[in-house]
Amino acid sequence: MSILFEPKAIGNLVLKNRFIKSSTAESMAGSNGEVTPPMLEFYEAIARGGAACIFLGHAFVHPQGRAHSRMTGIHEDSLIPGLRDLGEVIHRHECYVFAQLNHGGSRVQEGYAEPMGPSAVPHPLTGTLARELTSSEIWEIIESFARAAVRARKAGLDGVLIHGGHGYLVSLFTSPLTNRRPDEWGKGTQGRSRFLEEIYRSIRKAVGPDYPVAVKLGVKDDAEGGLSVEDGASVAAILAKVGVDAIEVSGGIPTKEAGAGRRDILSREKEAYFLPYAKAVRPKVGGLPLSLVGGLRSPKLMEEIVTAGWTDFVSLARPFISEPDLVSKIRGGRWDPVSCTSCDRCRAGFAREGLRCRRDEEPPT
Ligand SMILES: Cc1cc2nc3c(=O)[nH]c(=O)nc-3n(C[C@H](O)[C@H](O)[C@H](O)COP(=O)(O)O)c2cc1C
Repeated sequence: MSILFEPKAIGNLVLKNRFIKSSTAESMAGSNGEVTPPMLEFYEAIARGGAACIFLGHAFVHPQGRAHSRMTGIHEDSLIPGLRDLGEVIHRHECYVFAQLNHGGSRVQEGYAEPMGPSAVPHPLTGTLARELTSSEIWEIIESFARAAVRARKAGLDGVLIHGGHGYLVSLFTSPLTNRRPDEWGKGTQGRSRFLEEIYRSIRKAVGPDYPVAVKLGVKDDAEGGLSVEDGASVAAILAKVGVDAIEVSGGIPTKEAGAGRRDILSREKEAYFLPYAKAVRPKVGGLPLSLVGGLRSPKLMEEIVTAGWTDFVSLARPFISEPDLVSKIRGGRWDPVSCTSCDRCRAGFAREGLRCRRDEEPPT
């Protein structure tokens, strides 16, 4: 049997195989961020299709942290019943589910929240100027992550994943490009990691010692002068030391030039484009469970990198949108690459219409 189908634990959860559905914003939520019936359908298909664990699309932990329209919310207790429904349909298929906790920072759509960040600098992806957060606002946001994690636990979800990448608030703190603070929230890798560290600590205090808490970590920024792989690996080492249960290795702040999400993966050599980040992180975190995301398409390559020990799990995002049953297919012997070509049309327009594969549709104008 392939190592991809051997069970492996994250905290006290034993995942039945190594395939994780990585977060994709559903953009299907109600006006206050409520779970809706299309979300139940979307996720049940992936759970039924054999994934061991689903990381839900990012959910805003604070009313001011909403990044875009139709984003899922976890900022109020009234949202718990909908999240419970979601957990129930996923659990029918021996699949675990984590809520992804996020605050948009200055990567927010106009009109949804005030753009804010550690320092008053323009966002490297969007150019939006952030308002600098005060220390008391920082603590309020940290507490809102902890309250959101308690809601996830009350809803029966199996764990939480802190969004620490992709240019949202946490990664604005870890990056030297966007965090210029001279106080205890900035200055060097340790200071810039403090926001993430305190979020973890306050969640842990609120949910207790056994509830799985993982981090999707942006290990390196695309822009020059941003977070380097070495610094990103040091952030991972800090997380391992404070006790997170797993790290999903991803990218930091994207830039338009680097083409966030549109990286070419059409040859095997170009797949798994964040593998160098996992190779930098692994020696710093010992045996901490890692999952690698980003352009993984060939099952053989996935098997090789898990066998080599660079990662324990493989996280796939867009492939599950086009083929929710891809894990069952691989289990059944289909070893050719999954069909997703990262055309990224699922992203274009998703905020308005809800997430789906649009590979065979005309490109949006
Ligand atoms: C439509 C879309 C929505 C996404 N939403 C999220 C999100 O909510 N949270 C997150 O951490 N990453 C998000 N991502 C990034 C994916 O989780 C993943 O890191 C990226 O797509 C690379 O993996 P892939 O090549 O398997 O798609 C999104 C990607 C797409 C295409």
